[in-house]
Amino acid sequence: MNKPDIHQAAIRDVAFGTGVKVVEPCNLYGCKIGDDCFVGPFTEIQKDVVIGARTRVQSHAFICELVTIGEDCFIGHGVMFINDTFSTGGPARGHKELWRETVIGNRVSIGSNATILPVKIVDDVVIGAGSVVTKDITTPGTYAGNPARRL
Ligand SMILES: CC(C)(COP(=O)(O)OP(=O)(O)OC[C@H]1O[C@@H](n2cnc3c(N)ncnc32)[C@H](O)[C@@H]1OP(=O)(O)O)[C@@H](O)C(=O)NCCC(=O)NCCS
Repeated sequence: MNKPDIHQAAIRDVAFGTGVKVVEPCNLYGCKIGDDCFVGPFTEIQKDVVIGARTRVQSHAFICELVTIGEDCFIGHGVMFINDTFSTGGPARGHKELWRETVIGNRVSIGSNATILPVKIVDDVVIGAGSVVTKDITTPGTYAGNPARRL
């Protein structure tokens, strides 16, 4: 029987602020997590992600490279960020120049199981559970649905 190349989920090369609480198991690497943040279990936060102070990342969230999140945000359970939009008809397969960034402002609350494509979201926004955010959000308010629209 063949033996697969097994990698362990781990917390490595993470720049933590003070007072951060992390619940394992999770896979956090090369990212920056601000003061008094909470990171729940079964989360992955990838390289170069920056998360501002007091933001909560709930269990099962996936935060990929090229995502920046502000202060006092709430990233709900199972929220998925996307950086590869399959713009050439399939996965970028290592061509990172095809990836696109996401910037989330301050005091943004994202409901459980929402999917965030590469967008910019201003401060003071609420995203409903299960929404799919496909376009920039430039006005504070509550947005929900697929595609997410202002309520
Ligand atoms: C989006 C949200 C904040 C809206 O709450 P609200 O302002 O009280 O809105 P309402 O419940 O009055 O709903 C208003 C309309 O939006 C719709 N709606 C509400 N939430 C929705 C959602 N997540 N997706 C799609 N439509 C939604 C309602 O069906 C309603 O539609 P209608 O006017 O056609 O009847 C809330 O429904 C939500 O999704 N919260 C996320 C909570 C969460 O995930 N918490 C995580 C920790 S447990």
